[in-house]
Amino acid sequence: MDSDLTPQNNKRYQEKEYWARPSSDDGFHEWFKGYTDLQAIYEEIVPDRSARILMLGCGNSALYKNIVNIDYSAVVIDKMNRVHADMGMEWIEMDIRDLKFDDESFDVVIDKGTMDAMLAGVKDVWNPNQDIVDNCNAEVNEAIRVLRSKTGIFIYLTFAQPHFRKQYLQKPGTTLETKQLGDMFHYYMFIVRK
Ligand SMILES: C[S@@+](CC[C@H](N)C(=O)[O-])C[C@H]1O[C@@H](n2cnc3c(N)ncnc32)[C@H](O)[C@@H]1O
Repeated sequence: MDSDLTPQNNKRYQEKEYWARPSSDDGFHEWFKGYTDLQAIYEEIVPDRSARILMLGCGNSALYKNIVNIDYSAVVIDKMNRVHADMGMEWIEMDIRDLKFDDESFDVVIDKGTMDAMLAGVKDVWNPNQDIVDNCNAEVNEAIRVLRSKTGIFIYLTFAQPHFRKQYLQKPGTTLETKQLGDMFHYYMFIVRK
């Protein structure tokens, strides 16, 4: 097992076993930006505090409180269920490419770094393998399916240049907005509106 968060080979980010690594006692580890860094922008995009939110590939993130968190790592989900049973959130083991939720059952779907994990370790960033392309399209199609019509919002946060992500996010019947965030090191927020 790797001794810290950085694996020796990027491809490990694609593996379920990698995400089963031990974490801090409270189970939380934020991937590149935490809730406090993003609070203002989230509140601007999602002013309704009662919005039903689905977090894809939640990992150990504490981003929002009133959310359904899913992750395909049983280890992550078990730990978050055990340590944070009192938080009022749901933690469910599920693959983001095959959501077990009804159509139009969420106001907001959020991905922070999870599509990035699926794309990690691609041999050629300009031409990812077809199975990885299929995975990313499956994720976004599923996110759009479970979002409410006319008001649903899919928010995706990444450090990747927009060129490498837009192809998965431009879907019929939706609009796509891109925000550049950060100072020296930029990261990006994509907002897909259904
Ligand atoms: C880079 S971490 C991001 C965690 C969290 N969103 C954050 O911001 O700290 C990626 C997470 O996505 C999960 N993941 C990767 N592929 C997944 C998939 N196909 N379905 C569900 N979860 C997945 C991993 O288990 C891991 O917990």
